[in-house]
Amino acid sequence: RRVLSVASECAPLIKTGGLADVVGALPAALAPHGWSSRVLLPGYPSVMARMPRSRRVWRTDDLFGGPAAVRDTTIDGFDVMLLDAPHLFDRPGGPYESFEDSHVRFAALSWVASRIAIEGLASGWRPDLVHAHDWQAGLAPSYLKYAASEVPSVLTIHNIAFQGIFGADQLDRLKLPTWDFHPDALEYYGNVSALKAGIVHATRVTTVSPTYAAELTTPEFGFGLEGVVAMRAARGEMHGILNGIDTSIWDPSRDPMTQPFDADALAGKAAAREALLEEFGLDEPAGPLAVVVTRLTHQKGIDLLLEALPPFVDAGGAVAILGSGDHHYEQALLALRSPRVGVRLGYDEPLSHRMYAGGDLVLVPSRFEPCGLTQMYGLRYGALPVVASTGGLRDTVDDGRTGFVFDDISSAGLSAVLARAAAAFGSAPEFARMRREAMAEPVDWGTSAAEYAALFDSLL
Ligand code: ADP
Ligand code: GLC
Repeated sequence: RRVLSVASECAPLIKTGGLADVVGALPAALAPHGWSSRVLLPGYPSVMARMPRSRRVWRTDDLFGGPAAVRDTTIDGFDVMLLDAPHLFDRPGGPYESFEDSHVRFAALSWVASRIAIEGLASGWRPDLVHAHDWQAGLAPSYLKYAASEVPSVLTIHNIAFQGIFGADQLDRLKLPTWDFHPDALEYYGNVSALKAGIVHATRVTTVSPTYAAELTTPEFGFGLEGVVAMRAARGEMHGILNGIDTSIWDPSRDPMTQPFDADALAGKAAAREALLEEFGLDEPAGPLAVVVTRLTHQKGIDLLLEALPPFVDAGGAVAILGSGDHHYEQALLALRSPRVGVRLGYDEPLSHRMYAGGDLVLVPSRFEPCGLTQMYGLRYGALPVVASTGGLRDTVDDGRTGFVFDDISSAGLSAVLARAAAAFGSAPEFARMRREAMAEPVDWGTSAAEYAALFDSLL
């Protein structure tokens, strides 16, 4: 059985957030269940540069305004196909640089995925199922449907806040039929929504935690799509499958990016903590060293953090923050810098490993969080998660046993839980017991990969 996974990012090739980790981890996780994967990604320049030996397995003279080819290769052990379409992807900047034709770039990715499913590759490879991730692949199920293809599709919603909305004047250009432009299909308040198209047309819809699956049917979390999600849910066609983490990469006992340690030998963790304090120029705190690794956006509750950190550090805590994002959050964080508050702006994968390893706590005060991976890295590396009670955070952290969960998602709520975490840190036996439980928590892909495989199997 073969699955074509379609996404805008995939670790370790190109990553801006958790989507990449999940897309990169699924192939190996699904393999033991009899599903072999190929991942189709846009041919961003940085990724194209990493594939010197590749075969051209599909081509067209005109992909929405220019010639395009799909190249097939193996990078870091997994099968990747890159959509080599210079007119769309040969541009500087990250994957989500806002271009006037962003919708064209990702519609092209989705259209090519559907062609691969329908025609197969020159090599004869053809998927039994298409797995589309987020709005960037959201039109793939629609294209399959318009071609009356029998290949089933699964759409996974990693974040419903991003929907890929564009004008109805683009329908023709993107090979989308005007007859399907109505509120039960492509239309979203007069525009087209790529994510909604996927929710409506995919054979099944999944999201990345059971709690988020339930939240998505409510106006508070559905970002206007709660109605269509609820419709699929009512038919039993919406599933919440919790993300796992790739424990071959995220393994404190053999992580080349930090000092090795495990639950029975924590000397390495103490050394990683020392090194982290030094790296961020922080004084040794009397209380816990908290770490934050995040996109700096409203979703992530950075404003709550800005208010709750001063009392936390006044009470003896310290914090190391790594992030990039909204300019005003970056500036506000920089303004908090002190011997107790270290801030690093930018994206730095190896540093993120050193932070989970060196931290006593990892803070995730998100307003909403489809799944969240940083709390799971924290569990694995013995940095107890302090998380808001929402989405996947709620499904992965057990308050008082493996971490600290707060219900009142406000700066006061965050301050209160931080005081609780600091008190637990002050009681060495209690903290050691929680750390042991956290590090033993099953956060790998085991159960969830089996759920994906069972879902895929049921559609053949
Ligand atoms: P989201 O996908 O919403 O950003 P997740 O918690 O699912 O949130 O995943 C975030 C991923 O991105 C994690 O692997 C985290 O370590 C990583 N990450 C986020 N910001 C940075 C950064 N500035 N530098 C390095 N890694 C980061
Ligand atoms: C999204 C979500 C995050 C989730 C990740 C991977 O970026 O914001 O919560 O963990 O996708 O599914």
